[in-house]
Amino acid sequence: MRITDQPGASLGAIVEDFDHTAASDADVRELKRTVYTKKIALLKGQHLTPGQFLALGRRLGRPETYYEPMYQHPEVPEIFVSSNVPHNGRRVGVPKTGKFWHADYQFMPDPFGITLIHPQVVPAVDRGTYFIDMGRAYERLPEELKAEIAGTRCRHSVRKYFKIRPHDVYRPISEIIEEVEAKTPPVLQPTTFTHPVTGETVLYLSEGFTVGIEDAAGEPLGDDLLRRLLLATGQLDETFQHEGIHLQTFEKGDLLVWDNRSLIPRARHTATPEPTVSHRVTVHDEHRLHDGTRAA
Ligand SMILES: [Fe+2]
Repeated sequence: MRITDQPGASLGAIVEDFDHTAASDADVRELKRTVYTKKIALLKGQHLTPGQFLALGRRLGRPETYYEPMYQHPEVPEIFVSSNVPHNGRRVGVPKTGKFWHADYQFMPDPFGITLIHPQVVPAVDRGTYFIDMGRAYERLPEELKAEIAGTRCRHSVRKYFKIRPHDVYRPISEIIEEVEAKTPPVLQPTTFTHPVTGETVLYLSEGFTVGIEDAAGEPLGDDLLRRLLLATGQLDETFQHEGIHLQTFEKGDLLVWDNRSLIPRARHTATPEPTVSHRVTVHDEHRLHDGTRAA
């Protein structure tokens, strides 16, 4: 295994010659350390079947199966499929996933630490995924804004981006909203927390899932504060030119592993939809998201 910094980028590392079937435990520890410190590890030369991909994920932690079955791979349910390409005339997975800033499972009580993506069909034109490192984003905040959010909490919910399922057709929208609120009630997390591995302060919020911010006593602080935080971190920049935004490109055979505590990804928008398929595995590492998680 060989690990080098990603050239020309402020984050990311290239990992060559990683074989999950032969890697030692020390190799896996080094890979994970790279994920936490460099935030993205780009594993080269991986051409894995769904079963092999899951086996690689298991080397890094305990897989979390996505809670909505329509995203699951038909043979390997632990794999989340993002796809706009039918297989044998049938839809597999869900198209156009993650086209908004988010941390995976941010709306759940116990988000996992690591996300792995193995692109299967790579678009020719609009290739890559945008990322913001929310540890660095916190560092860049003006001191007054840091002081303003000290001791506050954010409320996260899937409600804005919950995708209507095939069996929801003809259901009243109020019934679907009620179901979403009952099954995935909003979760409260500290607005910032200490990364359990690196010790850095992470600003844990996103345009996609964060629906409110409140003070230590639970009093809502209004939408303006949240909007200023989204603006400062680059999440409202539709040109993607903000200094905090990193475009991570990839090619067939790559496998991306990233720090789901620090990074918020956003899939690229495509004007003319190209065939795109990617497989995702998500794993809990040996740490909690942070200490002191509590549900709303
Ligand atoms: Fe995602």
